[in-house]
Amino acid sequence: KRNPQLNKHGELIHLLSTEGLPKNILTHILDTATNFVSLNDREVKKVPLLRGKSVFNLFFENSTRTRTTFEIAATRLSADVINLDIARSSASKGESLLDTIANLSAMAADMFVVRHSESGAPYLIAQHVAPHVHVINAGDGRHAHPTQGLLDMFTIRHYKKDFSNLTVAIVGDVLHSRVARSDIHALTTLGCAEVRVVGPKTLVPSDMAQMGVRVCHTLEEGIKDCDVIIMLRLQNERMSGALLPSMHEFFKSFGLTPEKLQLAKPDAIVMHPGPINRGVEIDSAVVDGAQAVILPQVTFGIAVRMAVMSIVAG
Ligand code: NCD
Repeated sequence: KRNPQLNKHGELIHLLSTEGLPKNILTHILDTATNFVSLNDREVKKVPLLRGKSVFNLFFENSTRTRTTFEIAATRLSADVINLDIARSSASKGESLLDTIANLSAMAADMFVVRHSESGAPYLIAQHVAPHVHVINAGDGRHAHPTQGLLDMFTIRHYKKDFSNLTVAIVGDVLHSRVARSDIHALTTLGCAEVRVVGPKTLVPSDMAQMGVRVCHTLEEGIKDCDVIIMLRLQNERMSGALLPSMHEFFKSFGLTPEKLQLAKPDAIVMHPGPINRGVEIDSAVVDGAQAVILPQVTFGIAVRMAVMSIVAG
């Protein structure tokens, strides 16, 4: 079956998932993003690559970083950006997702950036838009968050250069995390030496071992001698029933403190996709400490999203 993200020439036309994306495309996105990072320090931050195009931001779920950096990225590419206020849209009057898309397409949309609580929503949209329209998944349910996965890869490559010697630990609520899945697929394709997922049994999905990762149920084992630690938030809004004794117990076992961080390599970096819950999955001193690269991740997110948008539309 053909990958719906690629056209018949193997070119990226939608970004729906990092799963199934070949290494050359991942690397091309990261290399393109490298060129955009320097725009941050320029007085004129715009390039004309998407001039005259209309990018529709459709966030059916909450977001701070992802939505804002997509807007900045599209603006820096000189696109016109339309941010739908979903809470005030007719989605709340019973209009179906595909009817909403059909109506926005009638306003000459060229690109949809979609976040939705249903896994697969961006795929459905991609199947129904005209051939010249591009769809970018900004997070669908627990399934995928490919631009976060890519900006995580960009950050790792920036600090560690090469994936082939790295041990990367993904820690916390892996079960509900679309970021974890997108990271794992990208790390595997880019040839990362070892990927570990770390969390209590109730928060690590059972298919993880099949994905080629090492599963660890203690933080100590999970982060020992790691080069990169990716911390995840407890996604309580996606939890059905009690999967955890308490936040306090969780922090005692899996919270990343400065003491525990010493088990990793001395030059290990600490990442987090945000939003951070200080004192739940991570100690404040680690968030504000020298090994954290959480804010650089946010900054790199702009360049990576510019790269993705310019490549799919290119
Ligand atoms: C994440 C998300 O929404 O998937 N945040 C993000 O986009 N950077 C992770 C989360 O909500 O915990």
